[in-house]
Formats: sequence, structure tokens, C-alpha cells
Amino acid sequence: MGCCCCFSSWSLLCQTLFLLNLAAYHLAHASSDEYISAIGHPGMKSPDVRVGLEAWNFCNEVGMEAPNMGSPRLADCADLCCPLIIDSLGRTTKCEVHHKVNESDNSLGTGDKFPVTRFKPYTDPDLFAVEKEQYLASLCENGNFDKNTTLCPENGKNISKIITKRNFPCFSEGCMNQPLVYHNYTRLVSLGDQIESLTGGFYGTYDLDADLSKGVGNKSYFSVTWQKNLSTGSWIFSQRLTTSSKYPWLMLYLRADATEGFNGGYHYSGRGIKRKLLESPNFKVKVTLDVKQGGGPNNPCDGDVLTNVTRYSEMIINPATTSRCHADNLVSCPPYHVSRTGEKIYRNETSQFPYSAYHLYCSPGNANYLEEPYDICDPYSNPQAQELVQILPHPEWAVHGYPEKQGDGWVGDSRTWVLDVGALSSRLYFYQDLGTEPARRVWSSINVGTEIYVSSTGMTAEWSVSDFDILVPEDVASSGVSFD
Ligand SMILES: *[C@@H]1O[C@H](CO)[C@@H](O)[C@H](O)[C@H]1NC(C)=O
Ligand SMILES: *[C@@H]1O[C@H](CO)[C@@H](O)[C@H](O)[C@H]1NC(C)=O
Ligand SMILES: *[C@@H]1O[C@H](CO)[C@@H](O)[C@H](O)[C@H]1NC(C)=O
Ligand SMILES: *[C@@H]1O[C@H](CO)[C@@H](O)[C@H](O)[C@H]1NC(C)=O
Ligand SMILES: *[C@@H]1O[C@H](CO)[C@@H](O)[C@H](O)[C@H]1NC(C)=O
Ligand SMILES: *[C@@H]1O[C@H](CO)[C@@H](O)[C@H](O)[C@H]1NC(C)=O
Ligand SMILES: *[C@@H]1O[C@H](CO)[C@@H](O)[C@H](O)[C@H]1NC(C)=O
Ligand SMILES: *[C@@H]1O[C@H](CO)[C@@H](O)[C@H](O)[C@H]1NC(C)=O
Repeated sequence: MGCCCCFSSWSLLCQTLFLLNLAAYHLAHASSDEYISAIGHPGMKSPDVRVGLEAWNFCNEVGMEAPNMGSPRLADCADLCCPLIIDSLGRTTKCEVHHKVNESDNSLGTGDKFPVTRFKPYTDPDLFAVEKEQYLASLCENGNFDKNTTLCPENGKNISKIITKRNFPCFSEGCMNQPLVYHNYTRLVSLGDQIESLTGGFYGTYDLDADLSKGVGNKSYFSVTWQKNLSTGSWIFSQRLTTSSKYPWLMLYLRADATEGFNGGYHYSGRGIKRKLLESPNFKVKVTLDVKQGGGPNNPCDGDVLTNVTRYSEMIINPATTSRCHADNLVSCPPYHVSRTGEKIYRNETSQFPYSAYHLYCSPGNANYLEEPYDICDPYSNPQAQELVQILPHPEWAVHGYPEKQGDGWVGDSRTWVLDVGALSSRLYFYQDLGTEPARRVWSSINVGTEIYVSSTGMTAEWSVSDFDILVPEDVASSGVSFD
């Protein structure tokens, strides 16, 4: 599902509006109760900034760059340096911000030569963006991640085109250009006496004729700002996303990727902050999500996983979202539900199937043995076929720390969630061809963010994310699945 703008951070991460995401199950397990962080900056507490921005089009590629904007991969990586100075006035510190990525790095566009020759100046905008992402990541590296320490799945095979009958909004030829992106480079701020920290942001619009210096008006808009919560030490990532008549379907996520290998939804290696492979059922995600504005009724969010099918498991917390899966519309339900006790309940068992726990299930377009009835959603949205499980707040999922009822965690109900994403994601149905070994469920990206899906008028979503962490059991971390 394409469109827009994503903030991946090499050291922090993520958020979204309504939704959390992902994963798998398996009760029992966990011989140890001790969990340790799997990311470079646990809990978003580093004083330094590591943020990457990427924008993509409908099929998760670049296609064409926006005029004078370079390739839509940018980074803001800044260290706060406060050396101790001992002089006649005593001991003081004088803080400075040290940038690792400058404007000429951020403005690199298709065909430009990189300052480091191992990165190739491709003339294809899609290939160039991959090189630029890796070049920027190489500037940001500082020990928060070691790109040699993570294993990730191998690239999948090519899939043949699927013809869709669905209509997607498009104002004219092209219809999904890259955005204009502006950058408030990280700078020092003093809050209170002596306490210095960093703040910065990215913002922009998809409407190429917009002049944001005159205000947003009825144009599309996105922004992310980072600042410290001085009482907890966590970063607060504040986001806003507004759709417009030309751009009615936009997404904005904060994302944590693996340090090497695929990111969810992509067919090339990115550079992220997760030092370990996340495999169901053994991981949890902690995040504080404060939803300020909902973005209208058409608003889900996701996290994702990748094999040859890009698999998304998404929890939608927008209470305006209804269940498309119900007893007289089995096409939108997974073939079966796995109960908390491990029992399979088929979707045609109408007195027992928890229809209201599901928004939508979409089968992968390259499956060989789909069970009727089935629906294949949005076949062009990813470089690979897509399988989507969108769930809703429900007691079935609340046992894993997820919201129990609609409205939980919504506007005015900011919460810190500890989601047993590993356990949840192993309980979900995902398609496999008959007779194949159950696939390992390894999740390469975790997103928190929002998608505003085809709004007839401009809609705005606004939210902040802090305290983000990914936790893995210590015994898993110290066994063969660990990479450090
Ligand atoms: C920006 O940084 C790159 C690499 O870090 C360096 O090669 C380049 O000279 C710098 N450009 C400017 C204008 O400082
Ligand atoms: C990571 O691997 C590359 C290629 O194998 C190697 O050149 C580089 O030195 C390694 N880096 C570290 C920090 O081990
Ligand atoms: C997939 O298709 C692209 C474009 O046709 C081609 O460049 C690439 O080599 C193919 N990849 C595989 C794994 O076959
Ligand atoms: C960028 O900086 C300007 C001027 O300080 C400020 O008004 C604006 O809110 C900032 N935007 C973001 C997204 O940080
Ligand atoms: C957007 O605002 C401009 C200026 O206020 C107005 O002329 C135009 O009709 C508006 N467009 C839409 C689609 O509302
Ligand atoms: C900082 O964190 C505290 C404790 O979680 C919270 O109460 C407060 O609202 C946060 N401040 C901001 C500006 O988010
Ligand atoms: C991708 O598909 C190929 C061919 O079916 C298979 O050999 C390979 O194991 C798959 N890769 C993943 C990561 O599932
Ligand atoms: C319900 O679905 C299962 C699995 O598809 C099938 O075996 C069974 O016959 C169906 N039962 C009814 C009553 O249709």
C-alpha cells in the first residue's frame, strides 16, 4: 500500500496513530522472564539524534524525484557534546551539536556522485535511493548499531503482475509524486537552567505547487519533530499528517528496521536500528502513544514482516473503524481464528468465530491454494505480494497487552503499551502453501504510525510517540539468534 512518507530512524523510532502491529504466538515458552532491548537506543533515551526520512510512491519505490529535492532519503544525525570546562569560574559545560550529515549529503539526487566511491551513482531513481539510504546510514553509524550483526531473509523471487479491478484515487498522469521535504536541522535548546538538549524536525507536502511559507492552506502536509522529555529522558516524536484533495491517501510512520537486510515492504536492504532478528513468539514492543487528532474514519496503521510475501499484521485503534469481517462477509475474514487456548475456529462457525476482532484479511496474490472465498487487496502496493491481517481491539488480543475495546488508547487516552507482539503474531493466521513447513515468523520492521485512507476532504492526524523499545528475552538474546 503505497504513498508516502516514512520516518525510519536509525536510532529511535516510531509511531503512529493508531496502531501498533504485528505478530505471533505461542504461549508457554520463555524460560526466562528477563527481557533486554534489541535496539540501539533502548527506550529512546540517547541524548543524540538518529533519524532517517524516506518517502515512497504507490508501489514502494521512488519513480521520479520531486523537482530540486534530490532523492527522497534524508537523515538528521547529531550528537550532543558537552565537554567539561574547568576555568577560573569553576567547572562548567558548554554544549555543542555535532552533525554527521550535512546539506550536500541530504541533497544528493539521482546520478550525483557520492563522496565515498563505494556507493554507486545510479541514474535509476529507485536504485539511487537505496544507495543514498546506505550512504547516509554510513555517516550516522556510531556504535548504536553494527550492520554486521544481523541476519535477515534473502531477497524474494519476482512475482508476475496481478491485474486489479480496484480503483485508486489519481488526479492525473503520475499521480504519486515524491514530496517537497524541508529540514530543521537538529539544534541545541536550553530548557531550564543548564539543561541542554537537542531538537529538530522534517516537514513538507506532496502538493508541488504549495508554498508552505504562506501556511498549509488546503494542501497536504506532514511533519515530525523530535524533542526530549526532560523528566523521562525519552525522545518525543511528534507527528502530523494532513491529506488534501489531490493527495487523499497518505501515510506516515516511525519505523524500526533491522540493521541490515530487508525492511518491511521493500525488496532491498536498508539500514536500521534493530540489533537482533525478531522472531515470533519471543519479543515485545513498548511504546507510549499519545493520539491528539484522529485523522478521520479511514485510518489504520501497521507493522510488517517479510518473506516472499510481505506480511502485515496491523492493529487499528481508531474507534471509527468497523469490522468488514462478519458472518455474512467471510471473504474479509481469515480462514480460521486461533483462540487463546490454541483451538482453531473456522470462519464459518458463526456462533464462535470472533468476527469483531478482525477488520480485514487479504490473501497473498501469489498463493497456489487459496480457500474460497478470498480477497486479494491492493496487489500493486508492495514489490512483493502482500498478505494483510488487520485486527481490532478485542479481549482476544488483550491477553497480549493490546487494547481490549475500541477507544482504548485513543484521543485523550495516552498510554504506555507493552505489547507482546511476538505472542500475538504467532497466533494469527498467515497463508502457507499446502504441505510446506510452518514458516518462521521473522519481523524485519516495526512501525507505529498512521494511514489516512482516501478521505474526501482534508483530514489531519496528530500524535506523538515516546519510550519506544523492543524487548527480547535474555535467554534468546544470548543464544544463537543473537548477533552481537
Ligand atoms: C558534507 O559531508 C560530506 C561527507 O561527510 C563531505 O564529503 C562534504 O565535503 C561535506 N560538504 C560540505 C559542504 O561540508
Ligand atoms: C562489516 O563487514 C564488512 C564486509 O564484510 C567489513 O568490511 C567491515 O569491516 C565490517 N565491519 C565491522 C565493524 O566489523
Ligand atoms: C526481478 O525483475 C527485475 C526487473 O525485471 C530484474 O532486474 C531482477 O533481476 C529480477 N530478480 C530476480 C530475483 O529474478
Ligand atoms: C521548523 O522550525 C520552525 C522555526 O523554528 C518552526 O516554526 C517549525 O514548527 C519547525 N517545524 C518542525 C516540523 O520541526
Ligand atoms: C484551496 O484554497 C484555495 C485558496 O484559498 C482555493 O482557491 C481553492 O479552491 C481551494 N481548493 C480546494 C480543492 O478546496
Ligand atoms: C514526559 O513524561 C511524563 C512521564 O511519562 C509525562 O507525564 C509527560 O506528559 C511527558 N511530557 C511530555 C511533554 O510529553
Ligand atoms: C522465497 O521463495 C523461494 C522459492 O519458493 C524459496 O526457496 C525461499 O526460501 C523463499 N524465501 C523466503 C525468505 O521465504
Ligand atoms: C466450514 O469450513 C471448513 C473449512 O473450510 C469446512 O471443512 C467445513 O465443511 C465448513 N462447514 C460448513 C458447515 O460449511
